[in-house]
Amino acid sequence: MSVSLRPRRSVLYVPGSNTRAIEKARSLAVDAIIFDLEDAVAPAQKAEARGHVLAALRDGGFGPRECIVRCNGLDTRWAVDDLEAIARSGADALLVPKINQAADVIAADAALARHGASAVMALWAMMETPLAMLNAAAIVPASPRLTCLVMGTSDLAKDLHAQHTPDRLPFITGLGLCLLAARAHGRAILDGVHLDLDDLVGFEAQCRQGLALGFDGKTLIHPKTIELANRVFAPEPVAVAQARRIIEAHAAAIARGEGVVVVDGRLVEALHVAEAKRTIALADAIASRS
Ligand code: COA
Ligand code: MG
Repeated sequence: MSVSLRPRRSVLYVPGSNTRAIEKARSLAVDAIIFDLEDAVAPAQKAEARGHVLAALRDGGFGPRECIVRCNGLDTRWAVDDLEAIARSGADALLVPKINQAADVIAADAALARHGASAVMALWAMMETPLAMLNAAAIVPASPRLTCLVMGTSDLAKDLHAQHTPDRLPFITGLGLCLLAARAHGRAILDGVHLDLDDLVGFEAQCRQGLALGFDGKTLIHPKTIELANRVFAPEPVAVAQARRIIEAHAAAIARGEGVVVVDGRLVEALHVAEAKRTIALADAIASRS
């Protein structure tokens, strides 16, 4: 399955220090879990949290959910132990915070290889600094292991001195640069978190904006937002039905020796057929999880 067809509508951060939350993640309807060793874990709890996450991955029980571990920053005193542990943890991916340049990706990739990570273990990059936005085009192709970008809009806001406005205008340039880089190389990309847990209306609006921009899904901090994210980032039944009509009508047009056809009042060409196939494949991939 191509990276962007693997459902990643809902990707939940779970603090590595919170064993109750780790246990709960086994039963939540998320597409992926990010076990966090970085910002959600206090300095005094770093080693203990690492132990909890390793034990959880060893015990398993996460079903079809993708399991990712976020290490501490490469320049922190916990990074060496984190990378060594995560490399052989059985996680699907390592998520590295505060990637700034291609060299950071190359260093993380080399550390995984050095510590015996399997070839299928992926590398995910947090895109959350102004330098990362400017270097996105070089960061993404720096390693074939790098399959997914994760926007870190909270750290980006801090560095930009920007505000979290409802339209997210302060982030649009950064989001756009990362989306361009990800899609130019066929990689997946996830939108940043919505911090206001009491604002589900704003959360849904942000998910819809992320979908319109092209994100595969949203990173989450609380279980109560999972269902909404799953709903927004899944193709709607009417879209799937329309996709089937597009494919059939275009095939019939080609059989008649014509390259274009009108479906539901809209012009359909080969590029729309490719998009329709993607919609159906994503809907099928989602259906096969439940
Ligand atoms: N993952 C799994 N379960 C979670 C969870 C998470 N991220 N956040 C909350 N839950 C669980 C709680 O354990 C609780 O379960 P229970 O009632 O069965 O015991 C239930 O959901 C309701 O939680 P609630 O009481 O509303 O929230 P809380 O006060 O326990 O936690 C936060 C609030 C914000 C501290 C918590 O959601 C959290 O830690 N989120 C992740 C933060 C993070 O990882 N940040 C770094 C990346 S931005
Ligand atoms: Mg961050």
